[in-house]
Amino acid sequence: MNRIKPVIVLCLLCSINIVFAQPKTISQKVEALLKKMTLAEKIGQLNQYNGNWEATGPVTTDVGDKLDAIKHGEVGSVLNIVGVKHTRVFQEAAMQSRLKIPLLFGQDVIHGYSITFPIPLAEAASWDLSAIERSARIAATEAAAGGIHWTFAPMVDIARDPRWGRVMEGAGEDPYLGSLIATARVHGFQGKGLGNLDAVMACAKHFTAYGAAIGGRDYNSVDMSLRTLWEIYLPPFKAAVDAGVGTFMNSFNDLNGIPASGNHYLQTDILKGKWGFKGFIVSDWGSIGEMINHGYVKDNYQAAEVAINAGNDMDMESRSYINNLAKLVADKKVPIQRIDDAVRRILTKKYELGLFNDPYRFSDADREKHVMNTPESVAAARDVARKSIVLLKNEHNLLPLSKDLNSIALIGPLVKAKGEMKGFWSLNVGDESQIVSLYEGMQQAAGKSKLLYAKGCDITDTSKAGFDEAYKTAMQADVVIMAMGERPDMTGEAKSRSNIHLPGVQEELIKAISATGKPLVVLLMSGRPMVFNWTADHVPAILYTWWLGNQAGNAIADVLYGNYNPAAKLPITFPRTEGQIPIYYDHYNTGRPAHGDKDVNYTSAYIDLQNSPKYAFGYGLSYTTFGYSNLKFSKKSMAKDGEITVTFDLQNTGKYAGEEVAQLYLRQLVSQPVRPVKELKGFQKVMLQPGETKTISFTINKEKLAFYNDQLQRITQPGEFSLMIGSASDDIRLQDNFFLSH
Ligand code: GLC
Repeated sequence: MNRIKPVIVLCLLCSINIVFAQPKTISQKVEALLKKMTLAEKIGQLNQYNGNWEATGPVTTDVGDKLDAIKHGEVGSVLNIVGVKHTRVFQEAAMQSRLKIPLLFGQDVIHGYSITFPIPLAEAASWDLSAIERSARIAATEAAAGGIHWTFAPMVDIARDPRWGRVMEGAGEDPYLGSLIATARVHGFQGKGLGNLDAVMACAKHFTAYGAAIGGRDYNSVDMSLRTLWEIYLPPFKAAVDAGVGTFMNSFNDLNGIPASGNHYLQTDILKGKWGFKGFIVSDWGSIGEMINHGYVKDNYQAAEVAINAGNDMDMESRSYINNLAKLVADKKVPIQRIDDAVRRILTKKYELGLFNDPYRFSDADREKHVMNTPESVAAARDVARKSIVLLKNEHNLLPLSKDLNSIALIGPLVKAKGEMKGFWSLNVGDESQIVSLYEGMQQAAGKSKLLYAKGCDITDTSKAGFDEAYKTAMQADVVIMAMGERPDMTGEAKSRSNIHLPGVQEELIKAISATGKPLVVLLMSGRPMVFNWTADHVPAILYTWWLGNQAGNAIADVLYGNYNPAAKLPITFPRTEGQIPIYYDHYNTGRPAHGDKDVNYTSAYIDLQNSPKYAFGYGLSYTTFGYSNLKFSKKSMAKDGEITVTFDLQNTGKYAGEEVAQLYLRQLVSQPVRPVKELKGFQKVMLQPGETKTISFTINKEKLAFYNDQLQRITQPGEFSLMIGSASDDIRLQDNFFLSH
């Protein structure tokens, strides 16, 4: 017995030791795993390859058998492998590696996975944060069921230049609206948190200032003051960090001569340092190696050194890391601590996603079958699509259409378009029969017997051979609806356009049909603001429908027939012509501001064109009208730690129930440095029945008054402010001043 006691004690101690020695927290598990990893295995985690199919970037060299590389622990993540079946094959290969570290599967789920939702710029026009979040939530649910762990979204780049094709992918020109939408999209994608089977890890991109490419030419240089960077381009990224975004992706551009992939100030000082970001940064496709083209490094060895030391953690498709990091560590050019930090960040996300517990947890064939295209998701897609349609013009209340119309002519190259409704960045839509064209939507709403159709012309072709038939078709109808615009591959990545006019002979067709004298409605489908001045000046009713995704036809029909009263507002300024670009609402006043569009007497103005845009930021009409009145302040002066409550009455003064996006703008009248003539600092989307009045309230606090000074300190300055409330940035209905006392 005496001999047994020590053994029992020893066993007890061992079991206690085993229990206590077992890593429990994710951090402890990561550390324990890190200790087992060879340098080669660590570097493998920093390497991301594209799958074998859809390339979303320039495919340079093939790495041969990627599955073999995965089995040898040389790959940490793969993009563009989708579907439970295929992701399982790649994950099985990873489970054959020595340490069985699971792969991360990433894809650009930008606006939908199986169901395509409106392009992000269209959704931004809804100013409806819950609808935008819901759209991302459904996209995440479908993507996660399709084996995806990680979406390279939301794209939160501020864009003030509609020549830039990727304007379609973001939330427009305004930092305040863009920050709220970034938050909504991160919450939508990540849901209740990583590890949930309906959540995907989000990725704030492209870090940073990618949308300010000079000339609107994609991938071009960006040159701006750090103050503009902090005031305009960084806020949506900070909002994404505050929303808990799991990853960042850096951008292709150089910022003031330093490529983002090698930019320590951006990636380490700001993102990981000042903002305390704990996730990881992936490069954009090949962007680390592209620093050679930039002339910033001489070869991939130096590219890897600069990028990893600047804070970039994972290398998408440039192979600079996998081919050079081991030598860089041996050459003492890259400290192992930086490698470990990058690996730690990546492994942490894999643990948070639950992939170590079950590498196949997102590869459930049964869930994949049942989650896609549910009736609730289809209804949500239709709802956010309707909310994204901007009513630009409605003379003589031509819209909504009467149900009594007997004959409707549908004319134009996009009337029967289906695939086009997806817009750019829609990689997975199953069969296109799920997509509702305008023609099909109108069949549902009006009945086929009432519809006449003529294509009239192509999108870019210059032939007018179809004009005659279109004219005759229009002459037979009570009303004509034209569906015009771009092709989806005319706006998106690497799709910058120097000429953003309505393409081909489309505006000539509109003129020809207008000559019939028939009531005419023009629908404009595009991923960007286009120029269409003749149409804007001569056609009585115009709807900007962007690219609305699967439910396009039904959503447009809902609006045309007034089943939904349009309430969208432009998230980006529409220029009169390319010569006005860049043009945006929150500009400085200058020393010689033009007072109105005719003031060219030694003022900051064009002598050959008005200064004002064709359509302003925040503009959009409704089938009803709204009255603003009774502006009140709780007080007219506040200390910087105080606040002022502002109220006003908003009334539906028309005969249709409808929503108004009431916008709050502020301007500090005197400050150093100067402030813009107005900045969006609040909005409320309010539903009102005909005749109904609601009192709306905004709170003014320090955060709404703060700005960056030339030392990049976020400050407030005492002084007088103008407060403006309106229906658009150029349609201010109420205005009064208040003071910040100190
Ligand atoms: C592309 C895009 C980026 C995307 C990535 C992967 O080049 O710039 O937004 O996430 O490559 O497809």
